[in-house]
Amino acid sequence: MVVNMKGKSLISINDLTLEEINWIFDLCKELKEKQKKGIPHKLLEGKTLGMIFSKPSTRTRISFEVGIYQLGGTGLYFNQNDLQLKKSENISDTAKVLSRYLNGIMIRTFDHQDVLDLAAYSSIPVINGLTDLLHPCQVLTDLYTILERKDILKGLKLAYVGDGNNMANSLLHGCSKVGMNISIASPSGYKPDPEIIKNSENNAKLMGSKIEILDDPVDAVKNADIVYTDVWASMGQEKESEDRKIKFAAYQVNTELVKNAKDDYLFMHCLPAHRGDEVVNEVADSSNSVIFDEAENRLHVQKAIMALLM
Ligand code: CP
Ligand code: NVA
Repeated sequence: MVVNMKGKSLISINDLTLEEINWIFDLCKELKEKQKKGIPHKLLEGKTLGMIFSKPSTRTRISFEVGIYQLGGTGLYFNQNDLQLKKSENISDTAKVLSRYLNGIMIRTFDHQDVLDLAAYSSIPVINGLTDLLHPCQVLTDLYTILERKDILKGLKLAYVGDGNNMANSLLHGCSKVGMNISIASPSGYKPDPEIIKNSENNAKLMGSKIEILDDPVDAVKNADIVYTDVWASMGQEKESEDRKIKFAAYQVNTELVKNAKDDYLFMHCLPAHRGDEVVNEVADSSNSVIFDEAENRLHVQKAIMALLM
């Protein structure tokens, strides 16, 4: 089957079909092999990706910038403060202007609606590089990383322990789309987005998989193939850090908790990690941990995404 994703935006995994997800993974595998063997793969020669950041980034910025370069194109970095955007120019005019110069836009910002608006007014693909609601490029990478290790996705159980944030929301979309079971344990008041849970339950029904939203981390991790966590206070929530440390104390991924997972479980974290808070070094640096594979695969998966969309 040939899937044509050219010209589309990537805002949410929930907008992708299973065929499109597999198409990204197939191209990713091919591009990763080519890059490792030094075989040229300049699929985006002469193309330019604009990268707008309203929040800091290590992985997203570097992997997109290196990725477009390896594909033969150029990446242009903008801190949102450098642009007229939202200060003296609205999103719609900005989108129309950028569409005249660029071949694609990657944006990391706070309000998810801003990314939807940018995509609505752009005539070029817009890629969501993280909003307060979703982080689709990270979760596509996580699924690819699991596939590399386990050779299969459907039927595996992923346990996510911690804040019901952008990572939890995108993991719900991603796992339910590919038929993985997902159990999320978060304190009350910090559960994932209700609308996203509902949509993911619909996906899971179609795929014959299961979604559990729980309170107890031990229940979530029981028999898990993957144990996933993320920071307790996301970018923009720094003022809540101390309060969250108290509320999330029972949600730390430590050596006791992971004893409930399968022996060959994978430990995953999108990074940056706040070691000693949501995860201890003994787990993050254990032989079960694939956190640096995840970071590397951001490059390969996003190259596939850019090549397919742009
Ligand atoms: N995981 C991730 O998106 O990392 P950065 O914030 O460093 O881009
Ligand atoms: N939940 C984190 C993810 C960072 C990649 C944040 O939004 O800060």
